[in-house]
Amino acid sequence: MADNKETIFSGIKATGKLHLGNYLGALKNWVEMQNSGEYKTIYAIVDLHSITIDIAADELRQNIHDMAIDLMACGLDPEKSIFFVQSHVKEHTELAWIFNCILPVAELEKMTQYKDKAKQHKKNVNAGLFDYPALMAADILLYHATVVPIGEDQDQHVELTRKIVRKFNNHWGKLFEEPKTKMTRTPRLMSLADPTKKMSKDLGEKSYIALSDSADVIREKISKAVTDTGGNKGKVNGGRNLLDLFTAFVDDENITAKFEEDYKNGELQYSKLKPMLANVIINALKPIQAKRKELAKNPDYVTAILNQGAQRARVIASQTMSEVRKLVGLE
Ligand code: TRP
Repeated sequence: MADNKETIFSGIKATGKLHLGNYLGALKNWVEMQNSGEYKTIYAIVDLHSITIDIAADELRQNIHDMAIDLMACGLDPEKSIFFVQSHVKEHTELAWIFNCILPVAELEKMTQYKDKAKQHKKNVNAGLFDYPALMAADILLYHATVVPIGEDQDQHVELTRKIVRKFNNHWGKLFEEPKTKMTRTPRLMSLADPTKKMSKDLGEKSYIALSDSADVIREKISKAVTDTGGNKGKVNGGRNLLDLFTAFVDDENITAKFEEDYKNGELQYSKLKPMLANVIINALKPIQAKRKELAKNPDYVTAILNQGAQRARVIASQTMSEVRKLVGLE
């Protein structure tokens, strides 16, 4: 039954509510790749990565559950993908440790995400935060994934994963293949309140649209969204961001081209674009929200799906670890 489909792996942190930036930047793609039938798809909620930033136990537990529901509501299908929680498969931490022992500190020190997060969380610059990329490499390589869909901010980590592959293969014997990144097509969404920053939960309610936001909340957030100051030559490209968002949902070029044209000429009427944009988002989220509601009523079902996913992941992960252990001399 062996087929030669490439394996895709991607992970998402258990950050609580999903927002449109996550949806368009990652999830929509995950689902499309799953449904294309071209790949074996493996997706994880990376809870061990989540604790590199301080988080209360109850909140984390809730976030993991909520994220699972959100992912399934967006179309992740346990029949088509292996879908699980990272910490349920202990091989992730085991392989990360082994990678630690060939990974130069100097390489980790170059990581932009580490430098940024260390600045943001000055009181909690922990070793896990520093070592984040070793665990991420383990996530990918345990499943011999060769395609990793991510946003551009994670590219450096996948580049480091390729270095780890070369080091491992040279040092202990050829086992892993270098994975490539698959950048998401959608431009990254910026905060609605401050379009110089990436859309993120950290920037507060007004900066993002959650997949669970009601129609009224969506209308309100879009109507208040910052547009361009000083026309399209202004530094703050909130208008561009709204247009990107619109284009992400509206496939019809007849409609988007007109707005693009107006935008270029500095004539875009936000009083027209904004209500349309709000409606488009509200309609796109409707089926996701309906599915979300249904799943939220059935927590045991969600737990069962995650357990089943972990079991399937473990079969592959333990096989890889057994090979690693032999090469390293642990067996
Ligand atoms: N670091 C990724 C992010 O913040 C999440 C992640 C963890 C991941 N492990 C991964 C992504 C493996 C791709 C592959 O978005």
